Amino acid sequence: MIMERVTLTVGAVAHGGHCVARVGDPPGQVVFVRHALPGERVVAEITEEHPGYLRADAISVLEASPDRVEPPCPYARPDACGGCDLQHVAPAAQLSWKAAVVREQLARLAGLPDFPVRVEPLPGGTLGWRTRVRYTVDAADHAGLLKHRSHEVVPIDRCRIAHPAIQELPVTGRPWPSASTVDAVAPSAGPAVAAPDGDFDGPIVERAAGREWTLPAGAFWQVHPAAADTLAGAVLDLLEPRPGESAWDLYGGAGLFAAALAGKLGTDADITLVEAAHSAVAAARDNLTDLTGLRVVRSTVEAAVVGSGRGRARRGPALRGPVDLIVLDPPRTGAGAAVTKAVMAADPRAVAYVACDPAAFARDVRTFRDGGWQLATLRAFDLFPMTHHVECVGLLSRIPLGG
Ligand SMILES: C[S@@+](CC[C@H](N)C(=O)[O-])C[C@H]1O[C@@H](n2cnc3c(N)ncnc32)[C@H](O)[C@@H]1O
Repeated sequence: MIMERVTLTVGAVAHGGHCVARVGDPPGQVVFVRHALPGERVVAEITEEHPGYLRADAISVLEASPDRVEPPCPYARPDACGGCDLQHVAPAAQLSWKAAVVREQLARLAGLPDFPVRVEPLPGGTLGWRTRVRYTVDAADHAGLLKHRSHEVVPIDRCRIAHPAIQELPVTGRPWPSASTVDAVAPSAGPAVAAPDGDFDGPIVERAAGREWTLPAGAFWQVHPAAADTLAGAVLDLLEPRPGESAWDLYGGAGLFAAALAGKLGTDADITLVEAAHSAVAAARDNLTDLTGLRVVRSTVEAAVVGSGRGRARRGPALRGPVDLIVLDPPRTGAGAAVTKAVMAADPRAVAYVACDPAAFARDVRTFRDGGWQLATLRAFDLFPMTHHVECVGLLSRIPLGG
């Protein structure tokens, strides 16, 4: 298939790993262009047409940005692996790129123009950080990585952003008959392991928040080796827990933030963790037996804090405020308006919102603001170098009367 090629002047970065440009003279339809940088002149190939916008890949650069570098990974090309969006961007410029995206989401969706945003790097550089990799197995039984917005498997020798221990595993050089995926994990304690379809022989052991965690392979855990401690530290810095305070750890996973809070509030502190996934709840119950004040609730956060059911079957929320501190760490979709309103209704002194999607985060910040709350502080971290992903940790608090 021959795709249309256009010459573009590339504009600002946009959420999702691309920049915005316009085709035509005078400039008309919006094009989201990957493999480009703001200010560049590129030849781009149109890859998708949608009502109102196009998608394109820059395939040659006519005028390069000073922030452009040679991608360290040979598969970071439009026709190859789609895992990394920013391999062509210098490391410092990746941080600025992500800061611009968070700033733009806060301006557009939270109504906070010019909110100061700085994205902090994690130790270890931009390569060799990824401790969990899911490979897809192709029709010939070989494990590779997926092309961007496609089910096509790209054969690779090794993934450059994967942890060195994962790069050394014999995953890509051998057949995986009857598997559809291969999962590889490099835990912080113990050797790296790979298993077909996530079928690991035993648990995974991680170290974070001053303790060792024994986790079922399927339970959520942060992917960057420094992420768990970085986020736990940021949450504590923002919340400044005080002796005697109570806390909710919502979307709590295996209990990383509950454990960090208990480190400040005491092992008998009144902490409630809410988590929907069975494996994560089991991990929290098994790993945090020393936290005598901890209650682990297996439920969706929506049911636990908003209530569930309709009509006569309607049940009120299992959790009722007041509570002093709340950590919210939802999946990419965000907490949503109903949970955010229930969080405000619990009347906490402070909320730490850990967000892996800045758009969902900004929408929930808007709900907080509409409820008389403010985004008091924001920290952002480069937990996913070479990709467009960025993690935000926001401190939300009620605006004082007369404030
Ligand atoms: C981003 S992870 C955070 C986990 C944990 N806070 C950590 O840092 O390790 C989000 C967690 O929310 C859980 N989850 C997703 N949707 C949920 C829901 N509606 N209610 C409760 N938990 C949910 C997932 O199973 C996952 O463990």
